[in-house]
Amino acid sequence: MSTTATLEYNGEKYEFPVTVGTENEIAIDIKTLRAQSGIITLDPGYKNTGSCESAITYLDGEKGILRYRGYTIEELAEKADFLEVAYLLIFGELPTRDQLDKFHEDIKDQSVVDEDMKKILDSFPKSAHPMGVLASLTSALIAFNPSSVNVSSEEEMYRAIVKLMAKFPVLVAWTLRKKEGMPLDYGDDALGYVENIAKMMFKKPNKEYRKNDVVINALDKLLILHADHEQNCSTSTVRIVGSSHAGLFASISAGISALWGPLHGGANQAVIEMLEGIKADGGDTKKYMAKAKDKNDPFRLMGFGHRVYKNFDPRARIIKKAADEVLGDLGVTDPVLGIAKGLEKEALEDQYFVDRKLYPNVDFYSGIIYRALGIPTEMFTVMFALGRLPGWIAQWREMRLRNEPIGRPRQVYVGENKRTFIDIDKR
Ligand code: ACO
Repeated sequence: MSTTATLEYNGEKYEFPVTVGTENEIAIDIKTLRAQSGIITLDPGYKNTGSCESAITYLDGEKGILRYRGYTIEELAEKADFLEVAYLLIFGELPTRDQLDKFHEDIKDQSVVDEDMKKILDSFPKSAHPMGVLASLTSALIAFNPSSVNVSSEEEMYRAIVKLMAKFPVLVAWTLRKKEGMPLDYGDDALGYVENIAKMMFKKPNKEYRKNDVVINALDKLLILHADHEQNCSTSTVRIVGSSHAGLFASISAGISALWGPLHGGANQAVIEMLEGIKADGGDTKKYMAKAKDKNDPFRLMGFGHRVYKNFDPRARIIKKAADEVLGDLGVTDPVLGIAKGLEKEALEDQYFVDRKLYPNVDFYSGIIYRALGIPTEMFTVMFALGRLPGWIAQWREMRLRNEPIGRPRQVYVGENKRTFIDIDKR
């Protein structure tokens, strides 16, 4: 295998080293391209750009492989719990029982959120989208935890990480409870991390909280499946904001905003809205398949297609099975599930979708489970953010520990050449 690549332009030859990853991914290291030649690369959407070297998550979109720190997503979803996976992603190894217990204890120590944060939450209208509320509250946490801003040592980073892992679920639960008009609650430190999240979210003020293993298992699995996905839009946002040393909470708040969009994390909400729209319109899936293929129609089949998975999304396989189990266990019959299955079948057999390698992604089925768990549609992307938190943290920590330079892409300018200013009354 060649260790260098040569670029020839205008009769000049430029040589660049080739970097090979542990899974044999090959990249031409063009760090010196501009200095050598004055040329830059152009890659809108970064489809061919490796923005960093990372040891956290490996995925192969052609083979449908997803691994966190070397462990397959299938094995982690079956055998690990969410906090264990969070530890693995952030610190690189599966924790021992003692390490996990200490991590959990440290988190529990930090799980109280300043009471004044409630005033900020109160000032939002009930109609506010929970993702906007969550991004704002995460940003507001900075003001109440100033020591978490300028962190550079591993110990300072650890303290900031633990604070966020502790307080973020509280903010998520409060965002839901505000939307539902329920009193804010703190859960119970005696419970497991995910069980406590479930209690904080779902406990009714007039009823004792009862653990439901189906709900906890489904939540654990969903959170694990969403926990990291290498350099996607929100994660790249977290890394690039963090690269200015803006601090963990500010970087995560920016990541939440990036995740909100319907082409990214917002797709799980968009899927359910689409399925409900099809149901309300008589359930004619063929009509919507035709709309998705019509280039003059902006409609896209939400939950289909992925920037990197071009054969299948391994998370979608796990989640599809989980959706059947959860609905069965909870005794829920959801008419939109039938529409989802019909659409999936038609799309998988349709030449347009086959040619473009468009398969159901993780969000095609996650919304159906969230619905079965009683989570309102607008909260789906918040649940995604809750799952993605350890991945964002791990990526931020890796970027800081590697002392990566500030992210600052270049551009090819295509605007006007120099021109002379014209006074306003002469234009
Ligand atoms: N429905 C219909 N056609 C589609 C769809 C879709 N869902 N997705 C892609 N296509 C078509 C495009 O129109 C394009 O067709 P063309 O080659 O004839 O012009 C071709 O497939 C390639 O699509 P791109 O948009 O170039 O693919 P890209 O990799 O840029 O986009 C994306 C990936 C954004 C996920 C896209 O497939 C999409 O919009 N899907 C629906 C939204 C969604 O489910 N997002 C969640 C992604 S997963 C996540 O964030 C967790």
